[in-house]
Amino acid sequence: MSFAPSADSPAAPASQAGPASAGVPMPHIIAVTSGKGGVGKTFVSANLAAALARGGRRVLVLDADLGLANLDVVLNLFPKITLHDVFTGKHTLEEAILPAPGNFSVLLAGSGMVEYSRMTAEVREQLQKLVAEVAPKFDHVLLDTGAGISDVVLYTVSLAAEVLVVVTPEPTSLTDAYATIKVLATTQGRRRVQLLVNQARRPGEGRAVRAQLQQVVDRYVNPALEPGSAVRLDLLGEVPVDPAVREAVLRRQLLMETMPGTAAAIALVHAAARMSA
Ligand SMILES: Nc1ncnc2c1ncn2[C@@H]1O[C@H](COP(=O)(O)OP(=O)(O)OP(=O)(O)O)[C@@H](O)[C@H]1O
Ligand SMILES: [Mg+2]
Repeated sequence: MSFAPSADSPAAPASQAGPASAGVPMPHIIAVTSGKGGVGKTFVSANLAAALARGGRRVLVLDADLGLANLDVVLNLFPKITLHDVFTGKHTLEEAILPAPGNFSVLLAGSGMVEYSRMTAEVREQLQKLVAEVAPKFDHVLLDTGAGISDVVLYTVSLAAEVLVVVTPEPTSLTDAYATIKVLATTQGRRRVQLLVNQARRPGEGRAVRAQLQQVVDRYVNPALEPGSAVRLDLLGEVPVDPAVREAVLRRQLLMETMPGTAAAIALVHAAARMSA
């Protein structure tokens, strides 16, 4: 199977807006994002966090899908205090950081809040300040973002030093992942993007997906960049399609906690080990 970007324009050189432009250069902040929606970002964020916590790391997952948050649903939490309360000054940041099953901390967002469907200057500033404030307290901060290349998603990703793109082997997911990578390279100056291939149907599919995406990036993005500054895709891990994932989500349980011996959970433990190596 192959895919090629349609009506592709050559990549522009990196603009000034970049990971450093948000002023939070902390290396342990990682944005978990994707081109296509529903590929497993929230599942990966929560379970990767639990795997990292198991290794003794202090981990925070921030539900950065501000308008359509659902990390709370996956973790079966019913938060009384959300990011919205911190932004509006009703509660302190300390009050909003909640313990989650799996021994990590979460900062949850509300759902259905239209005010977060656009990134206003005020929300940008509040989010940036908040991330800068929590970052020193944790070894890893995972930003579980929304999908796509909207302003909201791109701004959230810009707060992170590292970016992890979750992709499934479906052609639509591959095409959208490519679009995301291209936009991150050209508008944020990203030169290293980590990939997590989720819902792999056979061992080795992760490597194949990485190679395929790298090939397209080499053909359409890298030639327009300055020599020696090519975009490199690194494979953080491959998680197989596993019926236990859907079961855990339906039961609102953390896979890593309730079914740690399943293939998907074991794959995420490997990814976490690579992440903290
Ligand atoms: N490895 C897997 N095996 C089987 N099913 C999976 C796997 N990963 C994810 N899923 C299924 O995909 C669903 C969507 O996952 P999730 O909510 O994490 O996606 P998302 O990328 O966060 O979506 P959104 O873009 O809406 O935020 C899960 O509820 C689960 O049923
Ligand atoms: Mg999600």
